[in-house]
Amino acid sequence: MPMPWPLCSEKTMKNALDTVLAYHQRTKHHFQRYAAGPGGLDWKNQPDPFRSFVGSPQLELPLLAAAPQPPYADLYMPGKVVPQTLTLNSVAALFELAFGLSAWKQYDDTRWALRCNPSSGNLHPTEAYLVSAGCEGIDNGVHHYVSRDHLLEQRCRFDTASNRSERILPPDSFLLGLSSIHWREAWKYGERAFRYCQHDAGHAMAAVRYAAATLGWQVQVLSTWGDAEIGAILGVNRDTDFSVAERESPDAILLVTASAPGCTAAEPNAATLVNAAHGGQWQGHANVLAAHHSHQWPVIDEVALACAKPETQETIWRAPELPEPAKSACDLTAVEIIRQRRSAQAFDGVSRLPAEAFYRMLDMSLPRHAVPPWDAIAWAPRVHLLLFVHRVDGIAPGLYLFLRNERIEAKLRAELNPDFEWLRMQDCPAHFSLFRLVAADARNAARALSCHQDIAADGAFSLAMLAEYDTQLAATPWVYRQLFWEAGILGQVFYLEAEAAGVRGTGIGCYFDDAVHDLLGIKTPFMQSMYHFTVGAALEDTRLQTLPAYAHLDRAVGGEA
Ligand SMILES: Cc1cc2nc3c(=O)[nH]c(=O)nc-3n(C[C@H](O)[C@H](O)[C@H](O)COP(=O)(O)O)c2cc1C
Repeated sequence: MPMPWPLCSEKTMKNALDTVLAYHQRTKHHFQRYAAGPGGLDWKNQPDPFRSFVGSPQLELPLLAAAPQPPYADLYMPGKVVPQTLTLNSVAALFELAFGLSAWKQYDDTRWALRCNPSSGNLHPTEAYLVSAGCEGIDNGVHHYVSRDHLLEQRCRFDTASNRSERILPPDSFLLGLSSIHWREAWKYGERAFRYCQHDAGHAMAAVRYAAATLGWQVQVLSTWGDAEIGAILGVNRDTDFSVAERESPDAILLVTASAPGCTAAEPNAATLVNAAHGGQWQGHANVLAAHHSHQWPVIDEVALACAKPETQETIWRAPELPEPAKSACDLTAVEIIRQRRSAQAFDGVSRLPAEAFYRMLDMSLPRHAVPPWDAIAWAPRVHLLLFVHRVDGIAPGLYLFLRNERIEAKLRAELNPDFEWLRMQDCPAHFSLFRLVAADARNAARALSCHQDIAADGAFSLAMLAEYDTQLAATPWVYRQLFWEAGILGQVFYLEAEAAGVRGTGIGCYFDDAVHDLLGIKTPFMQSMYHFTVGAALEDTRLQTLPAYAHLDRAVGGEA
């Protein structure tokens, strides 16, 4: 593990920053050359999509009942969903809705699982852990979630006698830890995989926040904690338990509280939890995901080390007061929306989206106090949207900019192509910073920039997520990861909002970075495109069979979400 930044020399810090900037630069796709990858896929050594810890005691979780409440629209109304009690059933519901299987797909003899959280290439590098103390029905300790079997593997049993471990967490709360197996993603995508792991972690954070909202609960990403502490608590730093198995990198730890907004528990003490993990009894060994790795990608380890996060001071950021967003017209329950979320593989190329639905999606990308998923993170928006509008009623096709934080406007006006019209849109909600840059048919540009993928052109709109870049990283290289997380959270908002509007979304990790910047006239790395997304009326692939998520389990049904 690297030294905490306060103990690092300026030179070490500069080296870390250079490593991160160089990684980003070398993993850009270009029209004439893709970032370094494996070339072909080594199917014989395809990574096992499910991690498990052999020898860990297992706790089977109950499955959700068939038609649970609340309505999707209620998730965004602070206090509307009455908090459920923290029990084995409600914890099981949270894991199922955030990380559980949503269906199996089958084509000929090939069958693969889909999950409530999306993942680049469906490779699912993100692993989820529960750290519990004082939760009825669950031993105090660290547990790893296995989505295929919907169960918890007990990795560590806290020593209750010496630790009084039920006191190490605030009442009615638990921690949810996230880690990434970079190699799972690198098997297919090579060097660019580290970026995708971070996107997936962002999607996972939002998936947890939405799942918790169905239970009336609160979530906080504990952004002061360092990776070394998180790694020690989750046990991903335990060499003997991993041996030759693919390693996991700590991503983040989230405090989940079974309480109404405004009653969030005080932050637990990281050192106390590290001590509990040190003094606990660890069990199980990580499974090997593939016997052979035909390629090594050392730059992933280098960038992971360079942007490892130390413990930091808390910075308080409060979302500005904004008018309430237009109420979602969706009459489905939140659980239905979460379970039906899928990535569109093709769009019909003709359907149009009503302007109100488009504006509502943009509005939900803005942080508001006590409104999921943005209330889970404590930093100001740093990612803005370059919109390629194709088929939205009442809005001329073209390139638009949606600023999620006004402070960047002057800089953008000074730096972007001087020919842009910067026409402030009038028919949208008054608090929007939405500008038309140019009215034009943007379909070819959108398709070409997103690695020639038709999904970027055939929907109602697609977008590039532009992050404030070099100044944000200068003193804090780990912010590189947070920019992708923010993009992933945005992606999850668009996925669910698209479903709620009766259309469908798809995350797009494959795009030509600098070609996007050239389109805008960006000449310095003050902004970088971190992720693309597209929304439209999906075409179903009728060759695929859909099978229920958990028909293979003979499992009792638990409570309602
Ligand atoms: C970070 C990220 C990048 C993705 N990039 C692409 C892409 O470039 N093209 C594409 O067709 N799908 C892309 N997807 C969609 C995934 O392939 C999809 O999430 C995965 O196959 C699982 O399917 P599901 O989303 O329907 O559960 C991406 C998804 C994520 C989360």
